[in-house]
Amino acid sequence: MSPIFVTGGAGFIGSALIRLLMAESDYPVVNIDKLTYAGNLASLPGLLTEPMYVFSQTDICDRAALDRLFDQHNPAGVIHLAAESHVDRSIHGPGEFIQTNITGTYTLLEAARAYWSGLSGEARARFRFHHVSTDEVFGSLGETGLFTESHPYQPNSPYSASKAASDHLVRAWHHTYGFPTVMTNCSNNYGPCQFPEKLIPLMILNAVAGKPLPIYGKGDNVRDWLYVDDHARALRLVFEKGTLGETYNIGGHNEKTNLEVVDTLCALLDELKPQPDGRPYATQKTSVADRPGHDKRYAIDASKISHELGWTPTETFETGLRKTVQWYLDNPAWVAHVVSGDYRNWLTRNYGERT
Ligand code: NAD
Ligand code: DAU
Repeated sequence: MSPIFVTGGAGFIGSALIRLLMAESDYPVVNIDKLTYAGNLASLPGLLTEPMYVFSQTDICDRAALDRLFDQHNPAGVIHLAAESHVDRSIHGPGEFIQTNITGTYTLLEAARAYWSGLSGEARARFRFHHVSTDEVFGSLGETGLFTESHPYQPNSPYSASKAASDHLVRAWHHTYGFPTVMTNCSNNYGPCQFPEKLIPLMILNAVAGKPLPIYGKGDNVRDWLYVDDHARALRLVFEKGTLGETYNIGGHNEKTNLEVVDTLCALLDELKPQPDGRPYATQKTSVADRPGHDKRYAIDASKISHELGWTPTETFETGLRKTVQWYLDNPAWVAHVVSGDYRNWLTRNYGERT
């Protein structure tokens, strides 16, 4: 069976997708990841010796390396997640976001199109390129309303602008070249193996370390939270059954203010890991300066993927958050490696110089 290329498979969502594909599908997977600070092979335990799995430490901006990978593996398709993903980093240093999210997506599209152009028969008919994107491309909502697939693009941060640009490239490659694409735009994910720069893992780890819980501005910004394994299932479904040229919004129907999220986390930690002196974790909440250009509210209308492909989330915010808190408490080795930066040497330490 031909493999699927997953880019960004050492990241938070990519690793969840690969764990799902390895556990529940027959697809061999080639994980193409540069291993930036966000890439962590410890999120894919045991896979390097798995015959259905290949890891390649490759930058998606490297056209020659991508051509070699297409030539060597003859993939049945690509699920493209590799990106710079953190809004705050994009505000402080947008260059990497332009490079990976725009130039990288362009380079990958061109390598994939060259490969697809050389295919014939069934291999050509079945090939597809799935671009994984975000609801942030739509900008910010007011008190009411939901993002549908036809919502106008109005990105507000360097991150979301770079993702919007990549979405437009994918759309144009389908329209102009007939290149077989599908696209998904998802809301905020949470779950195991998320790098602790994002709200939920940052709050869990700061709380148990006795550090402040930094809440931007008033804490009244709203995000629509989805458990990462529900996103991974949706990605597999769209990759397999989505209509070419279409986009699908994915969301959890879990709109929460940031303060609600942090208070729920604190209450879960009070129950699962009470402080020796009985002090509630919520006492560590600290108001800090707001994020520049902070989008007020995101909320997804996921009715298209639900009606057309039959996807609905399985986790509620309460069940998913409980699992997530428990995972961070149960995996101190993963956390310690990430906090110390040691995870960056994981490949060499476990498998020598082989990549
Ligand atoms: P992440 O930051 O955890 O992981 C990104 C991965 O991409 C890392 O493993 C990193 O090493 C890799 N990477 C970065 N630059 C690369 C390059 N030039 N070449 C090859 N690999 C490179 O990100 P995530 O949260 O898992 O997000 C994955 C995708 O999903 C992104 O495209 C993101 O925009 C999108 N998305 C994320 C969320 C969310 O809530 N996290 C929601 C919707 C969409
Ligand atoms: O909506 C999808 C997007 O969700 C993805 O495309 C991005 O890759 C992903 O990072 C996420 O973006 P956000 O900016 O919404 O996520 P973040 O976890 O950084 O912040 C969530 C909210 O919490 C946001 O309103 C900012 C706030 N926040 C965040 C941090 C890190 C705080 O109040 N304090 C913090 O320390």
